[in-house]
Amino acid sequence: MKPITVALLGCGTVGGQVVRLLDEQADDLTARIGAPIELAGIAVRRPDRHRDVPKELLTADAAALVASDVDVVVEVIGGIEPVRTLLLDALRAGKSVVSANKVLLAENAGELFAAADESGADLYFEAAVAGAIPLIRPLRESMAGDHITRVMGIVNGTTNFILSAMDETGAGYGETLEEASRLGYAEADPTADVDGYDAASKAAILASIAFHTRVTAGDVYREGISAVTAADIAAARTLGRTIKLLAICERVDDAVTVRVHPAMIPRSHPLASVGGAFNAVFVEAESAGQLMFYGQGAGGAPTASAVLGDLVTVARNRVAGGRGPRESAYADLPVRPISEVSTRYHLSLDVADKAGVLASVAAVFAEHDVSIAAVRQEGRVEDASLVIVTHAAPDAALRSTVDKVAGLPAVREVVSVMRVEGEES
Ligand SMILES: NC(=O)c1ccc[n+]([C@@H]2O[C@H](COP(=O)([O-])OP(=O)(O)OC[C@H]3O[C@@H](n4cnc5c(N)ncnc54)[C@H](OP(=O)(O)O)[C@@H]3O)[C@@H](O)[C@H]2O)c1
Repeated sequence: MKPITVALLGCGTVGGQVVRLLDEQADDLTARIGAPIELAGIAVRRPDRHRDVPKELLTADAAALVASDVDVVVEVIGGIEPVRTLLLDALRAGKSVVSANKVLLAENAGELFAAADESGADLYFEAAVAGAIPLIRPLRESMAGDHITRVMGIVNGTTNFILSAMDETGAGYGETLEEASRLGYAEADPTADVDGYDAASKAAILASIAFHTRVTAGDVYREGISAVTAADIAAARTLGRTIKLLAICERVDDAVTVRVHPAMIPRSHPLASVGGAFNAVFVEAESAGQLMFYGQGAGGAPTASAVLGDLVTVARNRVAGGRGPRESAYADLPVRPISEVSTRYHLSLDVADKAGVLASVAAVFAEHDVSIAAVRQEGRVEDASLVIVTHAAPDAALRSTVDKVAGLPAVREVVSVMRVEGEES
């Protein structure tokens, strides 16, 4: 049996586990593929720091390793360059690629798939979204006969850990972020996670596959969690809801909307019980109905599991002389701006407790055609607050409403504005 030769690019958290699993499961992988996997080399930045892998496999010259006589390139470095150039070179030379790189796939999927098509190579990236959870393959292959209408998920473990902890303890965002860093759930620079960039890359990848349309990270509306307060969480709790950072991809008529933002969801919603650093994605399709995917969205071994799954698939394709699915972007649907996206909102206003306040606030909502579903007035005199939940309204109309309400003499402060998801509008 001629072995399938593999170049591994990167040997950090994920790559180290890929090396371990390739070694520990060598016999099983050979049996499953029909040929052995042979690790031809491992490219890293600093070879001298990797004492736990065979020295003769290590190189700092990733380009030379990619150019060598290998069948498959597995990329677990991350970021755009030099990875983009390395993977384009690999694909153009007919080498199949397995990547865990959401940033690259969310920006450059088009040119990577074009290079794969030119040479007939495979491009697989299950680990790029939600770690161990099989999601790309179900959307790309198992559900290829259905019409997906919505993908809504928790795809960032750091932010879910923080929001879950805030919900459990009642603590504020700052101190909970510190605790998350201390426990290793947040990076030293948590920007990509807490500002929603990581989730936006994953949303772009999911929307592209679900709606057969090329969506890039720049098309995704993005809000992070740093503005979520303990008061927001407490308000959600009072209403039987919790707050999650959601990636939401929707097909609306002949367009798609893709957004990442915190939202209140009912505690009875399947995503509400997803705690800690776990990920879960809820998919709705016309024929399949509702599906939920749940599991570990990050970590060395879970992510390596998804990488290995892809590696087995591309290796089997090589053995069989075929290839997996190409990019499917034929639908080419426009991506609507957030201003045109309709959602429900929860607003909390600090108001003067006097007659006519509710009427003056309600008049502003009516003027902007934002329909109110429920109102609750709490407290008296200095502490009065007005909680309003709207029916679905376009984002632009809600923003104009909030601006005008904030200027009313009877409104002391707009305390919180939060989207509400997972309920009938
Ligand atoms: N970690 C997770 O839980 C997770 C989950 C899902 C997806 N991913 C994705 O998996 C990828 C890898 O993540 P990771 O956490 O394993 O990263 P990591 O621990 O930082 O490892 C990165 C590896 O890439 C090597 N590297 C960096 N620049 C290089 C270059 N120019 N040439 C050759 N090698 C280079 C590093 O070498 P040195 O070791 O010598 O510095 C290191 O071995 C990323 O795309 C990430 O988004 C990670």
